[in-house]
Amino acid sequence: MNISIFGLGYVGAVTAGCLAKRGHGVVGVDVQKSKVEMFNRGISPIVEPRLDELLRSAKEQGRLRATNKCEEAIEATELSIVCVGTPSRVSGALDLSYVRAVVDQIGNAVRRKDKAHVLVLRSTMLPGSTQLLVDEFLGDLVSTGQLRVHFFPEFLRESTAVADFEDPSLAVVGSKEGQEPSAELLAALFGESAEIVSWPTAEMVKYTCNAFHAAKITFANEIGRIGKQIGVDSRVVMRLVSRDTKLNLSAYYLKPGNPFGGSCLPKDLRALTNCARVNGVQLPMLESLLPSNERHLQSLLTLIAESGQTEACILGLSFKSNTDDLRESAMVEVAQTLLGRGWKLRIYDPALNLAGLVGANKRAIDTKMPHLASLLCPNLKDAVGDSGMILINQKCAPVEELKCWVTEKHHIIDVNGWPELQRLEATYQGFCW
Ligand SMILES: NC(=O)c1ccc[n+]([C@@H]2O[C@H](COP(=O)([O-])OP(=O)(O)OC[C@H]3O[C@@H](n4cnc5c(N)ncnc54)[C@H](O)[C@@H]3O)[C@@H](O)[C@H]2O)c1
Repeated sequence: MNISIFGLGYVGAVTAGCLAKRGHGVVGVDVQKSKVEMFNRGISPIVEPRLDELLRSAKEQGRLRATNKCEEAIEATELSIVCVGTPSRVSGALDLSYVRAVVDQIGNAVRRKDKAHVLVLRSTMLPGSTQLLVDEFLGDLVSTGQLRVHFFPEFLRESTAVADFEDPSLAVVGSKEGQEPSAELLAALFGESAEIVSWPTAEMVKYTCNAFHAAKITFANEIGRIGKQIGVDSRVVMRLVSRDTKLNLSAYYLKPGNPFGGSCLPKDLRALTNCARVNGVQLPMLESLLPSNERHLQSLLTLIAESGQTEACILGLSFKSNTDDLRESAMVEVAQTLLGRGWKLRIYDPALNLAGLVGANKRAIDTKMPHLASLLCPNLKDAVGDSGMILINQKCAPVEELKCWVTEKHHIIDVNGWPELQRLEATYQGFCW
C-alpha cells in the first residue's frame, strides 16, 4: 500500500519508519522544509531510539520520500495519515488549526484525484472533532464514499515509540457506521484485534487514557508525599499495591455508576486525608475524592428530578449487591432525599433483612431511615407497581422476572450499566451514559 503521512513530528516520523519497515511505500508531508529535506535523505528529524535505522533502510530500499506538496502526496497514495500537532491555546482550549488546514487541503486534493481514498486522523482531538472536520471540509466525499475517514488514536511513548508502534498497548478505531475499515486496512495499519467504535468514542478513549495516566501518577506521588512524612517507604507500598491485579490494577473499579459508599471507602479516605493535614502534607487529589463523590450523587438526584416522576421503586438499597450493609450507601441518601421531596417510595432488596441487622449497620439505618420497614416490599410485583420510576442500583431480580411487571408506563434509571434493561418496555435512561 502507498501511504502519505502529514506532519513529520514525533508521531509522523515514527509512523513513517514503522510502516516503511512493513513494506509500504511512504510519502511524508510537512510544511517545514528542513524536515522534508531530512526525510528525503533518510535522516530522522527527531531523536528516537531505532528510528534512524528504520528511516535509513527505508530510504535505501526506495520506500521513503517527502514533499511539502499535499496534492502530489495524495495523487501518489491510497491512504493518508494525519499526525500534525494539536497544541493548547492560552486558555487551555484545543487548537485544531493545523488539522483543519491539512484536512481542507486533503479534501481538495482527493476531489481532484477522483479516486477512492482513506483518511486516518491520528492527531489527538476532543470528541466531536472528526465529525466537525467532516461536516466542514469533507461532507460530499464521505457521503458518496469516495473518502472513508477513521480516527485512530496513538498511544506511543516518546523514547520507546518504535516498540510501542510495533506492539501497541491498545488499538481502537473510530469509524462512521457502514464505513468500517476493510480487512486489508486492519491488517496493514490498525491490527486485526482493533476494536471498531464510533468517532467520538475513539476520540474520548485517547483523552481518558491520558487523564488516567495523569491521575495514576498524581495518586502515586501523593502516597509518596504522605508516606515520606510519616516514615513509610512508598516504593514498597506501591509495589505491593500493584501486585493486586484483582481489585487494584484491574477493570473492577473502573465502571461508571453509583457513587462509592459502604463502611470502608469514605471512612478510610477521611482518616488518610486527616492524617495528611495533621502532618502538614497537602493531598489535593485525595482531598477531592469525597467532594467529587458527593457531586456525583447530586447529578443522580438531578437526573431523577428531571424525569418529572413523583413515585419510585428502588431496586437495591445497600451500596452493592449481596450485602445488607447500608452504611454510607448512596441509595439511602437518594431514598431520604426523595422522601423529603414528597415522593411515594418503595424499596426492593432481597439481601436486606431488617430483623437481622446488628451493630453499627443497624444504628446507621435506624438514625437515617427509622421508617425503612414501611417502605420495603417483599415481592417484586408490589415493589415495581403499575407505573413510576424504577431506580435500578443492583441486579436483585433477573431481567426475565422484571419483564413480567415492567411496562411502558415505567421509567427506568439504570445506575450501574445493565444493558439487558434496554430490552424492557419501559423508558430507559442510563445514569452516566
Ligand atoms: N508526541 C507524542 O508522544 C504523542 C503521542 C500520542 C499522540 N500524540 C498526538 O499526535 C499529534 C502529533 O504530535 P507530535 O508530537 O508528533 O507533534 P509535533 O509538533 O512533533 O509535529 C507536528 C508536525 O506537523 C507539521 N505540520 C503542521 N502543519 C502542517 C501542515 N499543514 N501540513 C503538514 N505538516 C504540518 C509540523 O511542521 C510538525 O512537523 C498531536 O495531536 C499529539 O497530541 C503525540
